[in-house]
Amino acid sequence: MKDILNAPSIYHLFQFCGGFFSARVKAIKQYLELRPGQRLIDIGCGPGHILPKLPRGVFYDGFDTDERYIRFANRHFGHLGTFHCRVFDAAAAKEFGPADGVMMNGVLHHLDDKSFTETASAIRSALRPGGFLFTFDGVYVPDQNAIGKWLLDNDRGKFVRQEQSYRNLLERSFDKTEFHVRHDLITIPFSHNLVRVPLDLFISKCTKS
Ligand SMILES: C[S@@+](CC[C@H](N)C(=O)[O-])C[C@H]1O[C@@H](n2cnc3c(N)ncnc32)[C@H](O)[C@@H]1O
Repeated sequence: MKDILNAPSIYHLFQFCGGFFSARVKAIKQYLELRPGQRLIDIGCGPGHILPKLPRGVFYDGFDTDERYIRFANRHFGHLGTFHCRVFDAAAAKEFGPADGVMMNGVLHHLDDKSFTETASAIRSALRPGGFLFTFDGVYVPDQNAIGKWLLDNDRGKFVRQEQSYRNLLERSFDKTEFHVRHDLITIPFSHNLVRVPLDLFISKCTKS
């Protein structure tokens, strides 16, 4: 049943009708100050629908391991940015950095701790001083509404975490992180975990190691 979401149009229809897509757009507007001319890397970009919602004039590179999503993204949004069917690793960081920002919208909960830690290392080397990392995922919270919990239990991502587990994971790779748990980004009862790592906060980590 979940396989049906592998079809790019159906995935976006689900995201759009459920309000998950507009939640991403709202969060990006509220937490990031994106400007034309910035270089952005979008890890796990999916079919690429976020790109037209970003300011015109950003230089955008999207990465995803799903061929169907990348084909769709290139066909529909290839005039606005570039999409790559590959993992974002150290080689990609060297090739596509330095970037002003890296986004991972709905991706962390698809990655186990080891995969994220490897990706984080590539992200650190891809970002320029003053850049940021932004992550956005569903989160388990105490006394969660049954609908929200059911949606998380049935997500395709196998690593939906509690807030503390997201914190532990991010803080292993980055010195300081800003965490926000939001229950109001979507009309159905659903909780999101947002993390912003401004680079001025994590420069110290880079210089330490
Ligand atoms: C829930 S979708 C999010 C798509 C899009 N960012 C959005 O906001 O709708 C998660 C995406 O992460 C991709 N993904 C999972 N692991 C990945 C990895 N290691 N590298 C790149 N993409 C990955 C999946 O193929 C999938 O398209």
